Amino acid sequence: MNNSAVKIFEVGPRDGLQNESATISIETKIDLINRLADSGLKHIESASFVSPRWVPQMADALQVMRGLTAKNQVVYSALVPNLQGFENAIAAGAKEVAIFTAASEAFCQKNTNCTIAESIERFKDIMSLAKSENIPVRGYVSTVLGCPYQGKVAISQVAAISRQLYEMGCYEISLGDTIGVGTADNVKRLIDATVRDIPVQNIAVHFHDTYGQALTNIYAALQHEVRIIDSSVAGLGGCPYAKGSSGNVATEDVVYLLQGLNLTCGVDLKKLVGVGHWISAILHRTNSSKVGIAMNMRR
Ligand code: HMG
Ligand code: MG
Repeated sequence: MNNSAVKIFEVGPRDGLQNESATISIETKIDLINRLADSGLKHIESASFVSPRWVPQMADALQVMRGLTAKNQVVYSALVPNLQGFENAIAAGAKEVAIFTAASEAFCQKNTNCTIAESIERFKDIMSLAKSENIPVRGYVSTVLGCPYQGKVAISQVAAISRQLYEMGCYEISLGDTIGVGTADNVKRLIDATVRDIPVQNIAVHFHDTYGQALTNIYAALQHEVRIIDSSVAGLGGCPYAKGSSGNVATEDVVYLLQGLNLTCGVDLKKLVGVGHWISAILHRTNSSKVGIAMNMRR
C-alpha cells in the first residue's frame, strides 16, 4: 500500500461514552482522555456540546474539556450540532470541532430534529465563526451505508452531502456507517463516489461494528488509499438515536491490523490495551476489542 502513515481519530470519550447507561464521573472521563493521549493517540474527540436533554451523558462536557491535561501535539476536539454548541465548545477550550449531519432524512430528523438542508443551514454560522477564529472543522455524514429508519441510502446522496460539507470548509469528511450494516463492496463504491469531489486524504471512515464488518470495511477503505480511521477504545459506544447500533470498531483492533500491514499510527498497542481493559472494568462492560481480550489473556 502507498503512503504508510495512518491517522487514528479516537472517538471513545464522545461516541463511546454518549451511549453508556452508567453514570461516569467527570474525573473518570478526564482520566480516560489523558490515558488515551498517553498511549500515543493524537486526535481525541473528547466531548459533545449538544442538548443535555437529548444526550444527558455529555452534559458535563465543559468540565471535562476544562479538566484535561493538554498534551503537546494532541488535538482534543468536540462535536457540536449548532452555533450554541460551537460557542460552548470554544468557551471550554476546544481547538477543533466537528459538525454532523446525515445522508438520510429520517435519521437527521431523529438525531437533530431538522432536515438535512436545515442542518447545513445551521452550519453556515458555525463555519464563518470558525473561520474567523481559526478553528478547524471536521464534518460527519451519518448513515452512509444504511439507515435504521428508512433502510437504503443512495451513495449519490452521500457523495452530494459530503461535497457540500467539504465545499463549506470542513477540512475532513468522516463517512459514518452508523448502524454497521455496510460490506466491503459497498465501501469501495462509497469511496469511489466521494473521491470524485473530495481528495482521498480528506476522507475518514467511521465504522460501527454492529454486523462485525468494521475491520473488513476498513481494509477495503485502506486499499482505496483512505488513511484516516475513526475508532473507539474497547469498542465503546453507539448512537443513542440509532436503535441497536453497537460500538465503533475497537481502536486496539485497528492498531493491530495496521501493524500487520506495516502502516504506522504512532500508538503504543500495549498501553492502549491497558486503557481498554481499565475503562471496560469501570463501566462493568465486556471489552469489545478482540485484540484487547487476547493480549490481556497473555499477560
Ligand atoms: P431542539 O430541541 O430542536 O433544539 O434540538 P432547540 O434549538 O429548539 O433548543 C431546545 C433547547 O435545547 C433549548 O433549551 C436550547 O437552549 C437547548 P431550553 O430553552 O428549552 O432550556 N440547546 C442546547 N443546549 C446545549 N447545547 C446545545 C444546544 N442546542 C440547543 N448545543 C439539537 C436540536 C440539535 C440541539 C438536539 O437535537 C441535539 O442536541 N441533538 C444531538 C443528538 C446527538 O448528540 N446524537 C449523537 C451524536 S451524532 C452520532 O453519534 C453520529 C456520529 O458518531 C457519526 C456516525 O456514527 O454516523 C457523529
Ligand atoms: Mg458514530
